[in-house]
Amino acid sequence: MTRRSVIRGTGHYLPERIVENSWFEGQLETTDEWIRSRTGIERRHFAAEGQNTSHLAIRAARAALDRAGLTAADIDGIVLATSTPDFTFPAVATMVQAGLGMSRGFAYDVQAVCAGFVFALANADAMIQARQADRILVIGAETFSRIMDWTDRGTCVLFGDGAGAVILEAQEGAGTSDDRGILSSDLNSDGTYRDLLYVDGGVSSTGTAGQLRMQGNLVFRHAVEKLAKTAHTALDKAGLTGADVDWLVPHQANMRIITATAQRMQLPMEKVVLTVADHGNTSAASIPLALSVADGEGRFKPGQLIVTEAIGGGLSWGSVVLRW
Ligand code: UT7
Repeated sequence: MTRRSVIRGTGHYLPERIVENSWFEGQLETTDEWIRSRTGIERRHFAAEGQNTSHLAIRAARAALDRAGLTAADIDGIVLATSTPDFTFPAVATMVQAGLGMSRGFAYDVQAVCAGFVFALANADAMIQARQADRILVIGAETFSRIMDWTDRGTCVLFGDGAGAVILEAQEGAGTSDDRGILSSDLNSDGTYRDLLYVDGGVSSTGTAGQLRMQGNLVFRHAVEKLAKTAHTALDKAGLTGADVDWLVPHQANMRIITATAQRMQLPMEKVVLTVADHGNTSAASIPLALSVADGEGRFKPGQLIVTEAIGGGLSWGSVVLRW
């Protein structure tokens, strides 16, 4: 028998304020048509003043607990992916823990920018394998609107705020690729690409939060090259191929990147979960948001194979393969 990390429930929260592409036309030299055609984004949610990353994460966590029919007392740990924490410390995960009324278990943050949720999922799976926990809340939560340069049309139209959560639960499997739960993962970073996507401030350098800077077209090229490759590497580790995939749940940064990755994986677009039009790029929150939206619509059937993949600042990128 093999210990597996099975998704027991999903949930998400999006801030109330929805901003359509046309809103930017009044602020910058851009158009709804450019944003739509170059990115697939139509609108995004922005957090209200005083509404922080932890607030979004708590709402998403509660939704996941409700859907799973569990309470906070059933959770042994929280792993939360974010690059936009409320404060430098403590970890946002500990604020979620307190917000849920939990006073036991571990809670910490993982920071791998847009790849953060994939890293957090692999990390939480390893914690379950190591018998540190039987049930872990894995959350991606971001308020990227707080680090935008609103004069930079190449970045500020791309990002949105939100949070998604999944509950991983230890279950026994037979040790084959037919098992439910996480079957494999592939994680990568290459810090020599730091200048392609970064924030120009921080505690130890400027003492400020800074603003996001990106050489979008170069990140785009790396994304198209690396995402299908990491997905194939993860599938290979599980003894599976692209032909076994029922659903691709990609990081939702750009429709053109998603389409190119699906093409390289020879997957029809009907098998791809898309939320980029309504959410924009919510960094580490994008995959758990997409998982939760599709789960809420009843699209995943037990036994189906799901592949997630993401790339972001670092560069860091990776993939997780799991059976629903
Ligand atoms: O989640 C983390 C990973 N991040 C990503 O995956 C993002 C990857 N990159 C992208 O999605 C795309 O590169 C962008 C959407 C950011 C940009 O699309 P692009 O097709 O790569 O455009 P570009 O950066 O090469 O710029 C083309 C033109 C430029 O004008 P010139 O120099 O050709 O005159 C830009 O100034 O488009 C211009 N442009 C805009 N025009 C209207 C850039 N942003 C805008 C805008 N509105 N918002």
